[in-house]
Amino acid sequence: MCGIVGIVGSTQVTERLVDGLRRLEYRGYDSAGVAVITPQGVLERRRAPGKIAGLDQAIAQAPTDGVIGIGHTRWATHGAPTLENAHPHASGAVAIVHNGIIENFQELRTELKAEGFACVTPTDSEVIAHLIASGLKQGLNMAAAFNAAVDRLRGAYALAALNVDEPGALYVARSGCPLVVGLGESEGYVGSDSLALAGWTNKVIYLEEGDRAVVTAGDVRILDAEQRPANREVHVSRAVAGFADKGEYRHFMEKEIHEQPDAIAHTLSRYVDVDAGRFNTGDLLDWAHINRLLSTACGTAFYAGAIGKHWFEAHARLAVEIDVASEFRYRDPVIGPNDAALFISQSGETADTLAALRYCKAAGAKTLAVVNVAESSIAREADAIAQTQAGPEIGVASTKAFTAQLTALACLAIGAGRVRGVLTEADEARFVTELLEAPRLINAALASEPQIEAIAHRLTQVRDVLYLGRGVYHPLAMEGALKLKEISYIHAEGYAAGELKHGPIALIEEGTPVVVAAPYDALFEKTLSNMQEVAARGAEVILITDDKGASLAGDGAAHVVTMPDCPDLIRPIVAAAPIQLLAYHTASLKGTDVDQPRNLAKSVTVE
Ligand code: F6R
Repeated sequence: MCGIVGIVGSTQVTERLVDGLRRLEYRGYDSAGVAVITPQGVLERRRAPGKIAGLDQAIAQAPTDGVIGIGHTRWATHGAPTLENAHPHASGAVAIVHNGIIENFQELRTELKAEGFACVTPTDSEVIAHLIASGLKQGLNMAAAFNAAVDRLRGAYALAALNVDEPGALYVARSGCPLVVGLGESEGYVGSDSLALAGWTNKVIYLEEGDRAVVTAGDVRILDAEQRPANREVHVSRAVAGFADKGEYRHFMEKEIHEQPDAIAHTLSRYVDVDAGRFNTGDLLDWAHINRLLSTACGTAFYAGAIGKHWFEAHARLAVEIDVASEFRYRDPVIGPNDAALFISQSGETADTLAALRYCKAAGAKTLAVVNVAESSIAREADAIAQTQAGPEIGVASTKAFTAQLTALACLAIGAGRVRGVLTEADEARFVTELLEAPRLINAALASEPQIEAIAHRLTQVRDVLYLGRGVYHPLAMEGALKLKEISYIHAEGYAAGELKHGPIALIEEGTPVVVAAPYDALFEKTLSNMQEVAARGAEVILITDDKGASLAGDGAAHVVTMPDCPDLIRPIVAAAPIQLLAYHTASLKGTDVDQPRNLAKSVTVE
């Protein structure tokens, strides 16, 4: 993953590089660093393990500055998150920052060692600096040395390099990882995304696969994958530099949970014509002629897709095959002429989801992406997009993006159902009315927060939690378990309630907490039986249900969290709120780093 920035210009860069890194910290926070060329022509680096605050300290203790520099925030792949492994890596006159994975780094390292280069870190990135230095040593100029080095790399990279002997240029290359060039008045910029450059310029060029570029103050020269000069479109970025602040909340995650009524309402406003009682999603794909929808995503977005599958099948009679993106392209999936492909991603940069999109495009399928970030790689490469309107999601654990994804997927499924002749105009109008209730109802569900916080005290004491659900609540159970484990570090598993007796019930002992997601629906009674089965074996059941479910639940549950009764379609959207609050309060009471949990990053740009 990792985030990279670079500035070449006329005024001091260090502080601005660090600001850019702060905007990229969602890509990793294992270590951070900058390298600048000082006015005396010296390459200086400041690096620190951990978050950017550590880098701030390192710079405060030993200030440095110059008018050209590069910066990096790391999510460790090869090598522990230590000071030595922090980027920028340097070799002689050269420093580099890299996002991605160099697959042949062992082979390159052996060669470089034989040439006399000291490879002092276990990272894959360090070899890039030595490779460029090796070319310079052989008499190549920087452009040729950089190109020769990049030619040797196998794997995925977005990289930026500078050379003390050519202090007016940044050399950059992209393959498999995003890289953006920014054009300023008398400055040039590079960054992992346009957000990194926000505040410096809004004129950006998204480099394409295989592009290499030389960025100088006021100019950029790009070569395409065939090394031919390339003209790339200049976009006006809408990314804004201002950071969302936490307002009255302790964590961004808590704030984002409470922003869900707005995130859902804004997403609905994009896909619903309220006056006409219609959805405007009917032409995003050729729904009438699609036989099958291949739906692919990772993590929370995958669970949104799994709930969406129920809706496409029920309301559009459209078969959906759903895969985690990291598996999809490796199993030689069958993609037929009438298949279309759906990709769901908050960031729009998840490497596996992007790779799955490219795979489907290459196989000739039409592609539709549900993404939150409009300028992301997935948004730009898909044939059509249904953008969620969740706004920036800062907490690493996805919350409002998830319910916005569900909202968009519901709009797509109903729009498709209408085009496919499954739903009537009256059905469509009814679904519009129902979905418009979602912001109000999820807001009402958030009112159970004090009760959930009290239950969370109990969860802080336990090692394992089981989540159960049927139908749409099965993916929601898995999402609940994912939320709990990623931020509270408590082991949790989500199961289809009916699967329990085929193995997992052996885990139940006196006091085992079991969260049962069961608002009242056609499967409620069956889920309730499963709840009784675990309660009979001593489980401490936390039942998440609605008013109707609570009135019928009997006495098997130790705790009953009640959300308002909702129409069928929006019930799982509303039920997400108590599930998220339970994880949030457990983690918050345990005192974990809720917004930036260990080992994770907001955007997973490596496979
Ligand atoms: C969990 C979480 C992750 C992401 C996953 C996909 O809370 O946020 O599981 O959902 O990494 O990310 P996107 O949606 O950006 O593709």
